[in-house]
Amino acid sequence: MVQQPQPQPQRPGWWRDAAIYQVYPRSFADGNGDGVGDLAGIRNRLPYLADLGVEAIWFNPWYPSPMADGGYDVADYRDVDPVFGTLADAEKLISEALDLGIRTIVDIVPNHISDAHPWFRAALAAPPGSPERERFHFRPGRGADGELPPNNWVSEFGGVPWTRTTDPDGTPGEWYLHLFATQQPDLNWDHPEVRAEFEDVLRFWFDRGAAGVRIDSAALCTKDPALPDFDPASDPHPFVDREELHGIYRSWRRIADSYPDPRALIGEVWLPDAERFVRYLRPDELHTAFNFDFMTRAWDADQLRASIDTTLDLHAPVGAPATWVLANHDVTRTVTRYGRADTRFDFAAKAFGTPTDPALGLRRARAAALLSLALPGAVYLYQGEELGLPEVEDLPLDRLQDPMHFRSGGTDPGRDGCRVPLPWSGTAPPYGFTRQDVDPWLPQPAGWEALTVEAQRADPGSMLNLYRSALRLRRSTAALREGRFSWLESAPGVLSFRRGEDFGCLVNLSDAPVPLPEGGRPLLASAELTGGRLPVDAAVWLG
Ligand code: NOJ
Repeated sequence: MVQQPQPQPQRPGWWRDAAIYQVYPRSFADGNGDGVGDLAGIRNRLPYLADLGVEAIWFNPWYPSPMADGGYDVADYRDVDPVFGTLADAEKLISEALDLGIRTIVDIVPNHISDAHPWFRAALAAPPGSPERERFHFRPGRGADGELPPNNWVSEFGGVPWTRTTDPDGTPGEWYLHLFATQQPDLNWDHPEVRAEFEDVLRFWFDRGAAGVRIDSAALCTKDPALPDFDPASDPHPFVDREELHGIYRSWRRIADSYPDPRALIGEVWLPDAERFVRYLRPDELHTAFNFDFMTRAWDADQLRASIDTTLDLHAPVGAPATWVLANHDVTRTVTRYGRADTRFDFAAKAFGTPTDPALGLRRARAAALLSLALPGAVYLYQGEELGLPEVEDLPLDRLQDPMHFRSGGTDPGRDGCRVPLPWSGTAPPYGFTRQDVDPWLPQPAGWEALTVEAQRADPGSMLNLYRSALRLRRSTAALREGRFSWLESAPGVLSFRRGEDFGCLVNLSDAPVPLPEGGRPLLASAELTGGRLPVDAAVWLG
């Protein structure tokens, strides 16, 4: 008889304070020379990530997909898209990374699937009312001929989140719900087969050595079964943050905890209300979730301090670690954002042609790196942030791929600008990303020669070396892992805090240099310290 793994008592885990690197596989490194990043390319570059000092990698989806939304339209959750490699390559990648001390986090997309997934194809081929359609949200339209969408909801990507189907005889049929793009039909989480399927998918990847999963759109999966019109006064919301989600994540937690080395559940939970957010992190639910509140705040001492306080205050009672995120594959790169007049991140405010000062943005991004790496909890580092890459804002319009751009009618630049392939070496595109004569799937700009890994390795003052030193210190300094966090008194516009007894961090967001505290020995600084002072838009770690 096969011995079932015994549930483990809750214990502090690696995910509590790890530095986790986010790999967007299409844009990391191309191993086979077709212009698209792949698993072979990532395997070749694992020593780079080990040297950088990260402890885990979260991979954006690598599954078979028509790529209508960069792979978040999954056609098969148990395989790898041929453009990235094979399932065997993924297994090798997971084990080779582990040999270097790096854990793997796989991206699970439960809210929706691809319209190319066999379940959805079967649903389209089956008549209204059929069991095949019950796994989704099919509804007749409103209006005399069903010509209007079934309700007034708005897609997360803008526009109507319903698409009308065509019956086999060519007449217009039912509509189906998709909170994102048309090619991403939402699953019906009231259906037992949907629940069973994802529990099995979790085991599939955990059995292959994945140390955790990142859960896409984790607060959206369940819907009010009546799919009523949205009314701003309605509570609960018909599709955001519904109570039933907690039961789903409790069942996922039981699966994660059933492994001898418990697996981690990491939620992508976009909720403006931090008290609602931490309910997902109760001890029998998700282990952690991305801190988007911190990520979206302006470069402003009061703003950041408020976010840090709320985060720490609300995480403590549920016993979950905080996370610190500055960027990801959906948002404007920090160097560009922090160089703008408005330094917040807001999807709704994205527009072409917003001016930025990249030198200012870089100074602040360097300081923000030291700030986030000194806070208690786990840190997520999006690929290319360690190189200080800017958002590419002048991609040719005919090369853009993101449905957010197209669904906005072309007014939103979309998210391609933060997904441009990484520059590894050389002085011109493709900067070692792919074969010299190949044009990458998104074009890289001229002028990135000083930003390549090769160039930055050789420059002691580079962003890469700042991250590398900071990650090393973070690993070797016990206070940075376990030290109690406390604010120290500071001038307006300055953040100053201590971890434990002998580690301090000072960040200057004011408009004048500030003196370093007496007795503090600088360990690492984001800018040159002259005359015992910390310049504007800079941070220092003190021992
Ligand atoms: C969140 C992902 O980060 C984003 O890239 C994707 O478009 C949506 N979820 C839909 O899956």
